[in-house]
Amino acid sequence: MTTLLQVENVTVRFGGLVALNNVSFTLNPGEIVGLIGPNGAGKTTLFSTLVGLVKPSEGRIVIEGERIDGKRPHQVARHGMTKTFQNVSLFPDMNVRDNVVVAALSHSNLADARRTADAALERLGLASIADAEVADLTFPQRALVEVARAMATRARILLLDEVMAALNPAEMDAVMDVLSSLRDEGLTLFVVEHHMRAIMRLCDRILALQFGGLIASGTPAEIAANPVVIEAYLGREKSKEA
Ligand SMILES: Nc1ncnc2c1ncn2[C@@H]1O[C@H](COP(=O)(O)OP(=O)(O)O)[C@@H](O)[C@H]1O
Ligand SMILES: [Mg+2]
Repeated sequence: MTTLLQVENVTVRFGGLVALNNVSFTLNPGEIVGLIGPNGAGKTTLFSTLVGLVKPSEGRIVIEGERIDGKRPHQVARHGMTKTFQNVSLFPDMNVRDNVVVAALSHSNLADARRTADAALERLGLASIADAEVADLTFPQRALVEVARAMATRARILLLDEVMAALNPAEMDAVMDVLSSLRDEGLTLFVVEHHMRAIMRLCDRILALQFGGLIASGTPAEIAANPVVIEAYLGREKSKEA
């Protein structure tokens, strides 16, 4: 399988803090990869670095043979990768369609952006609420509008940062069905979620991050059985639930 995204030895320092430490991995077309790790592990920093909001101190980021590290977010978007923003993505006073149109404007004029937005809303089953204000939506609808915004940039690689955080299990299942269908159509999804059940069900492969370093990668079953991961993350979550 051809590699879509290649991350090689990426290190990010914020002053004296090493937020990412020599991180290397690849993403293939048409897979859902999960990124797990305790708070502060560097998950959001990794997403920000991939899309050009944070410049890596060291390392290379390559999409289909072309280096994108050091490029600005709008340039990275043209290479087909975009991310949602943890907590703050949507404009609450704007309607659903306009929220998505704004994202589509990154690569097209207003008429094209409207068409792209409507296609994304249609695809995600949101056409009937296109005129609703975001503030009036349910949490799962908001999650899907975030996905629609990412799709409207014509991204092939969507980085989803805790878009399901506010959802109950049934709502999560519904959103995960949509995400799985996008994967089946060839999109690549890289997903941060705290809910282990969701990550385990949704992902083809999982990467585990701790203190800025990758400590494991594998299938959900391999990750669930990995003693290093259990110690670093799952064990802690389990003891919290107990
Ligand atoms: N812009 C920044 N400047 C300085 N430190 C940062 C910045 N962004 C994140 N950090 C620090 O980097 C570490 C990783 O944070 P983050 O990537 O947000 O973790 P996660 O998303 O896994 O919870 C944390 O110690 C955080 O305080
Ligand atoms: Mg985060």
